[in-house]
Amino acid sequence: MSEKKAQLILEDQTYELPIIVGTENEKAIDIRNLRDETGYITLDSGYKNTGATISTITFLDGEEGILRYRGYPIEQLAEQSTFLEVAYLLIYGKLPTKDELSNFELRIKQNSLIHEDNKKFFDGFPQHAHPMGMLASSICSMSAFFPESLDPNRPPELVDHSIVRLLGKMPTFIAWTYKKRIGEPYVYPRYDLDYISNFLNMMFSTPMEEYHIDPVVVDALDKLMILHADHEQNCSTSTVRLVGSSQANLYAAISSGICALWGPLHGGANQEVIVMLERIKEDGGNIQKWIDKAKDKNDPFRLMGFGHRVYKNFDPRAKIIKAACDKVLSKLGIYDPVLDIAKKLEEVALNDPYFIERKLYPNVDFYSGIILRAIGIPVDKFTVMFAFGRLPGWIAQWKEMRENREPIGRPRQVYMGPTKRDFVPIAKREN
Ligand code: CMC
Repeated sequence: MSEKKAQLILEDQTYELPIIVGTENEKAIDIRNLRDETGYITLDSGYKNTGATISTITFLDGEEGILRYRGYPIEQLAEQSTFLEVAYLLIYGKLPTKDELSNFELRIKQNSLIHEDNKKFFDGFPQHAHPMGMLASSICSMSAFFPESLDPNRPPELVDHSIVRLLGKMPTFIAWTYKKRIGEPYVYPRYDLDYISNFLNMMFSTPMEEYHIDPVVVDALDKLMILHADHEQNCSTSTVRLVGSSQANLYAAISSGICALWGPLHGGANQEVIVMLERIKEDGGNIQKWIDKAKDKNDPFRLMGFGHRVYKNFDPRAKIIKAACDKVLSKLGIYDPVLDIAKKLEEVALNDPYFIERKLYPNVDFYSGIILRAIGIPVDKFTVMFAFGRLPGWIAQWKEMRENREPIGRPRQVYMGPTKRDFVPIAKREN
C-alpha cells in the first residue's frame, strides 16, 4: 500500500482512494470499497483496466515485451529449464531441488493411468467430436471419479494430490482424444518415459509400430509448453479463478478454463493461423491481397496470430518461437512452405502503417502452429496443446486464489433496459 492516495470528486464530494504499487512498480487505484462509500461502480467492459487480484505468479509488461514466471525471465526458462520444472516453479513458487523435481515427476507418472471406468466414459464420445470438447468434459469427469476432490478446502496435502493427479492424466486424455479421432486403440502411459516422451508415445505409437522418440521433437515440444505455461489474468485464467472463487472443485475450474481457451480470439488462434497460411498458399501466395483484406473494415478477415490484448511492442514468446521454428524444421529436415509465407506476411505487416499505428505484432500463435505441425500434431489438436501447456499456470492461479481465500467473483453492471412496467396478459396484447 502506498502513502499516496487518489482523489475522486463526485457530486462535489471528494473521496480518497488507496493506491497499491506492485513490486514491479505497477500502480493500481484500490476501489474495493467504492460502491459502499459512493454508490458508484466503475464500468470496464473486457476488464482492460481492471485488476481482479493481487498475484505473485507471473509478471508481464506488454509495453516492454517482458514475461517472467515467479521473477525468472521466460527467455532463461525456455533455454535452460524443463516443462515440469517450470510447472513446479509456478505451482509451488520456487525452483525445485533435484530431489523435489524427481519426486514431483515420479508422482505425476504414478497418476498418469486413467481408471478403466473413466475410459468407458471417454469411449462414449462420437469419433468426430472436437478434441477441446472431449478434453474439457474428460477433465470435468474427474470430479465424478474422484469425489473427494469436490471439496477445495481439504488439507493442503490432499489438494496437492488432486493437482498431481490432474498433471498426470492430462497428457493421457489429450493423446486419447487423438486416438479416438483416428479410430486407433489407446496407448497406455509408460513408467520408463519422461513426461513429454510419454505423451508423444501415447499419441503416435500403434500396435504395429512403436513411435521413435526424437530428442529434437521432445525438446521443441517442451520449450513450446514452457512458453504457454502461464500468462497472468487472461480470459481462460480469469475463468478458472472466477469458477474457482465459488469454491467449485479444481477439475470443474480447469475444465471451464479449457472451454474459455477454445475460442479463436484466445487459444483457438494457433489453429486459425495454419488454416489462414494454407489459404494464402492455395490462393497463390499473394501476401499484399491478404494484408489488404485484414485492413478492410468491411471484410471480417483478421490476420490471425497478430495483435495482443497486452503486448503492444512485441510478444517475447513469439521471438523465441520464431527462432525455435527455424531450428526444429532444419533439424528435422522438413521444408514447410507456409513458414516462408508466415515470414513474408510478418515482414509486410510490420512495415505497414495500419499495423504499426495499432501496435499489432505477431503473437505466440503465429509460429507455434508451424512447430506443432512439424512434429506431427494435427491442426485441430493445436488448441488442446495450448491447454496442455497452460495447465500448470491455471493450477497455480487456482491454488493462489484458494490460499488467499479470495471472495466469490461477482461483477456489477449498468442496467440500460426498460424501467418498471406492468405485465400485459397475452389475450390483451396487440398483434
Ligand atoms: N488483424 C487486423 N486488424 C486487427 C487485428 C488483426 N489480427 N487485431 C486487431 N486489429 C485491429 C482492430 O480491427 C482494431 O482496429 P480499429 O481501431 O481500426 O477498430 C484495432 O486493431 C484494435 O483491435 P482490438 O480488437 O480492439 O484489440 P484487442 O486488444 O481488444 O484484441 C486480439 C486483441 C488478440 C483479440 C486481436 O488482436 C485479434 O483478434 N487478433 C487475432 C487473433 C489472435 O491472434 N489471437 C491470439 C491472441 S495470443 C494468444 C493468447 O494469449 O490468447
